[in-house]
Amino acid sequence: MALVTKAIKGTKDVLPKDVHKNQYIEATALDIAEKFGYKEIRTPMFEHTELFQRGVGDTTDVVQKEMYTFDDKAGRSITLRPEGTAGAVRSYLENGLCNEALPQKVCYIGPCFRYEKPQAGRLREFHQFGVECFGTSSPLADAELIALGKSIFDTLQVKELSLEINSIGCPVCRAEYHKALKEYFSDRRDELCSTCQDRLERNPMRILDCKSPVCSEIAKHAPVVTDYLCEECREHFDSVQNYLKAMNIDYKINPKIVRGLDYYTKTVFEFISNSIGAQGTVCGGGRYDGLVDELGGQKTPSLGFAMGLERLMLLLEAQNAPFPAANTPDLFVAALGDKATLKAAEIVSDMRAEGFTALMDLNQRSLRAQMKYADKLGAKFNIVIGDNEVDTKIAKLKNMTTGEETEIALDTFVSGFYNISLSDQLADLEINGEEFDFSSLFGLNKEENEHGRND
Ligand code: HAM
Repeated sequence: MALVTKAIKGTKDVLPKDVHKNQYIEATALDIAEKFGYKEIRTPMFEHTELFQRGVGDTTDVVQKEMYTFDDKAGRSITLRPEGTAGAVRSYLENGLCNEALPQKVCYIGPCFRYEKPQAGRLREFHQFGVECFGTSSPLADAELIALGKSIFDTLQVKELSLEINSIGCPVCRAEYHKALKEYFSDRRDELCSTCQDRLERNPMRILDCKSPVCSEIAKHAPVVTDYLCEECREHFDSVQNYLKAMNIDYKINPKIVRGLDYYTKTVFEFISNSIGAQGTVCGGGRYDGLVDELGGQKTPSLGFAMGLERLMLLLEAQNAPFPAANTPDLFVAALGDKATLKAAEIVSDMRAEGFTALMDLNQRSLRAQMKYADKLGAKFNIVIGDNEVDTKIAKLKNMTTGEETEIALDTFVSGFYNISLSDQLADLEINGEEFDFSSLFGLNKEENEHGRND
């Protein structure tokens, strides 16, 4: 087979056999976020380039080296979003969410694009689950945000994830810190990469997260931001920690965390794992009190985080975390002959209308081929309909797990199926180690079920 082309480097297909795992992670995250008051927002995958230049910052690695930027057919510069925060803020302002009761809490799931060197846990198209909370300066909000992230990881039963926090101050304390960094890096200016030589003048903090080995080696002994916090930022940071303690959330202060995006102020944090290699940051976020006004709104203290869903999946798989089983069809109907195929189509349609997953063979193959197909699909029950079954209006419903067969009336198939499958499921349950006959609770008469007369 000669493929015309292959998937782009750094992208990944999720196949049907695996997708239930992604759906489970996403549904869990959305569900827990909702319990903390977050409602989903869906914003476009691409935006005007200046949104990210202004929002993420034009001296960041993301903007300088990693964005997928192109001119559209009308010559406008467009960028595939490298992250979700800037677009969420734009939408919050453009759609007047800023005029609603504050804080406004939004969450999102979607693809992001960064032209980075692909490796385990680092892709060029990856997916983030993110949350943003607009309109609160309270340190309680920082702690609640972290608690939300932790709650998602706990529910998914992630183990050995450490929470590292830091404060990177506000523009007031940042000025002092920048001065100290400039002094420190100036001595070794010539060794820095050309991007960082420019950063030294414009935004020396960005040198701290440069991925070049020489720059990161030099950065190892640079002054740390926590030594330069102003009183307000120090108090805020202390308060966040008090709330975290009250919420029983373990953390470590890591004064080296500065995050790779320009908008952060005060609290920043990361959830980090050792189980998935070099790209161990599964979730990162923090406060960004200046971003909303930077993008044209009123001053609105805000905060958020995003988790990388591919990294989270890697971690869950590495730790053998429990995933719910993939859904399998409730029923497969094998049909032989035209009359039987018509009846099968009717049954499948009635079953679907009642919410069951019911399938039949679209290719009208031999019975053997149909049964093989049903087996591959993992159907829980099947029936075979031929001329005889169409005439007598009775077929045998086979439980594919136990092999047990029960007669079922074709004219009242759905209610018969419901009774038989339910009583089979209940029979599997045990109370105090003893099998319990639940059918009595539902007014089901076992004998009637077995003869397919259920109505
Ligand atoms: P970020 O740290 O750039 O923050 O990305 C958040 C998470 O996305 C990372 O911790 C990582 O799990 C995942 N991630 C980033 N790049 C890649 C990649 N190339 N491949 C796979 N996963 C990746 C932000 O994006 C901020 N917008 C988070 C935020 C929201 N801050 C406030 N609100």
